[in-house]
Amino acid sequence: MPHATTHATVPDAGPLFDRSAAIFDRTRRQLIPCFDAFYGAVPPLVERAPDAELSVLDLGAGTGLLSQQLAHAFPRARFLLVDVAEQMLEVARQRFADEPEGRFRFALGDIAVFALPPRQDVVVSALAIHHLDHDAKRDLFARVHAALVPGGVFANAEQVLAPTPDEERAEHEAWIAQVRAAGISAGDLAAALERMTADRLATLDEQIAWLRDAGFADVRCTFREGRFAVYTGRRPG
Ligand SMILES: C[S@@+](CC[C@H](N)C(=O)[O-])C[C@H]1O[C@@H](n2cnc3c(N)ncnc32)[C@H](O)[C@@H]1O
Repeated sequence: MPHATTHATVPDAGPLFDRSAAIFDRTRRQLIPCFDAFYGAVPPLVERAPDAELSVLDLGAGTGLLSQQLAHAFPRARFLLVDVAEQMLEVARQRFADEPEGRFRFALGDIAVFALPPRQDVVVSALAIHHLDHDAKRDLFARVHAALVPGGVFANAEQVLAPTPDEERAEHEAWIAQVRAAGISAGDLAAALERMTADRLATLDEQIAWLRDAGFADVRCTFREGRFAVYTGRRPG
């Protein structure tokens, strides 16, 4: 049985992430030891030709790191990046400033209530949905399913809770040791730990079950390293 987790209301993640926007990108590889494999696991899940004209929705897109991976893999894809933190989106706007007009659009919004635009080919998210409480996660999965075209793909690169408190403690300690070994500064680690106070983690098994409950097919986890997992599902077509 998964251990009990806090079902808090959605915390105000906007100010937390706005404060970290300027340093966010430079600490990513230290904080995510499997950075390349983790983000790199998402584009192959789309299973479309590289020249496909896809609509892609990135939920909790932050500074645009995941969208950037997909933009390289699918040069004709168009993106909507949604995030609750204006300063994070501002970094994303700068990242994609040289892209053709209209290829990247940005929306300031809370994904717990944001009206997802319909007929999306691909919906992705990285390290963001775990900021919602569990009911809001389940509701979001249902809304993502409804927003996808038949055959459309959802992929979530996510931080997951270990199945037991002992395993969670061990994973947290192992992660702290890894990020220290990667040379993170005390200040950057403290900022990351402060942001993590807004985490509402769920186990991988819970999230896989919620995707199936929402109607997704072909639900599976394709990458797992420590607390980092990538899982996916497809709207039946
Ligand atoms: C750890 S960052 C990940 C950003 C980006 N997806 C990445 O992988 O680099 C989490 C992001 O989720 C955003 N976020 C947290 N709660 C949110 C919510 N309820 N609605 C929209 N964005 C949210 C934060 O503002 C932040 O940009």
